[in-house]
Parts: sequence; C-alpha cells; structure tokens
Amino acid sequence: MTRQSAYQLLTKYIKNPILLKHSLATEATMRAFANYFGEDEDVWGITGLLHDADYELSKGHPEKHGTLLFKKEPNVVPAEIERAIRAHTYEWSNVLPQTRMEWTLACCDELTGFIMKTVTFYASRKVADISVDFLLRKLRQKNVFPGADRKKILLCQSKLGIPVVQFITVTLNAMHSISNILDTKLEAEKETKK
Ligand SMILES: [Fe+2]
Ligand SMILES: [Fe+2]
Repeated sequence: MTRQSAYQLLTKYIKNPILLKHSLATEATMRAFANYFGEDEDVWGITGLLHDADYELSKGHPEKHGTLLFKKEPNVVPAEIERAIRAHTYEWSNVLPQTRMEWTLACCDELTGFIMKTVTFYASRKVADISVDFLLRKLRQKNVFPGADRKKILLCQSKLGIPVVQFITVTLNAMHSISNILDTKLEAEKETKK
C-alpha cells in the first residue's frame, strides 16, 4: 500500500476536515517515532494516517470503531497495519497493543488529539505557537479537557520506554513540521463554509 493509495482510502470515508487534520497529525507523529526507533517510516505513517478512517462510518457506534474499514474494504490494508488500527481501540476491540508500533499509535493518538483540542480551544494559538511546557501545564490541569485519557499518554513510559517529556517533544516537533497544514484551513473546510 502506498501513501497515495492510503490517502485516497482515507478521503473516501473521512469528510470532516478536523478528522483529516487529526489523521495527518497522527501520520506525521508516527513517522517521527518510526525514525526515532529506526523502524519503517511508511508503514508507521500509513498506520497513523488510516487509524481513524472508519470514524464517520462508526458514528453512534463507538464499539465498532477500528473495525469497519476492514469490513468495507477487505484485503486492502496490510495485516500489520490492520492489527495496529484494531488495537488502538483496545478498550472496545479487546485487541491489546503488543508491538512498539501498536503502543506508539495508542499513546500518540491520544496526545495528537489533546494538542489539536488545545489549539482549537485557545483560539489565539496555532500549533506552531504551542510549546512543550505549555502542553505539560495543560496536561497537569485535570480540569482541562477532562475527557482526555492522560493515563494512556503516560503509557509511553512503561510500554515504550520513552519519558513523557521526550514523547511530547517528538510529537510536537512532528506536528510543527506540518503546522502549515494544521494551522491553515484545509480545502474541505473552506468548502463547507461556502
Ligand atoms: Fe480512533
Ligand atoms: Fe485518533
């Protein structure tokens, strides 16, 4: 599977520009961690890109999230990517993350989501303006986005052996590298406003 075919698959099922940005942020972060660990950047990147591809398909049925893409598109996604995607919703799927790629996806998905919420909430801020210290402060303030699963982010320490400050630094640097996309309205976003 190429990056181009993965992106086509993603945009076939995801129309919400916020979800597209979340997918791109998670892709960039997975690529950064693939490099960090010396793993296959494209496999990790495509895993990040596609992890929420069934989000709109599973609307109203969170227990199905992480499974529906493979029902709609059987034998399209490579097995190791499919397993990582099923494992990112392990609370429901009962597919527990095992490999480094699977744990990285589970932990960084929660963090990229937290960062984008932070950006949206603090409207004057852009991804490019967010710092590690600012994020650490917001993560410590339990009343800020209380629905965010902080424990899942912290699993980077026990499951991946990465101190949380380092985990946030790699994630934020990856998101800064595509801040031109994350801080600009995507074409689809512009179109929905027309
Ligand atoms: Fe998800
Ligand atoms: Fe996600």
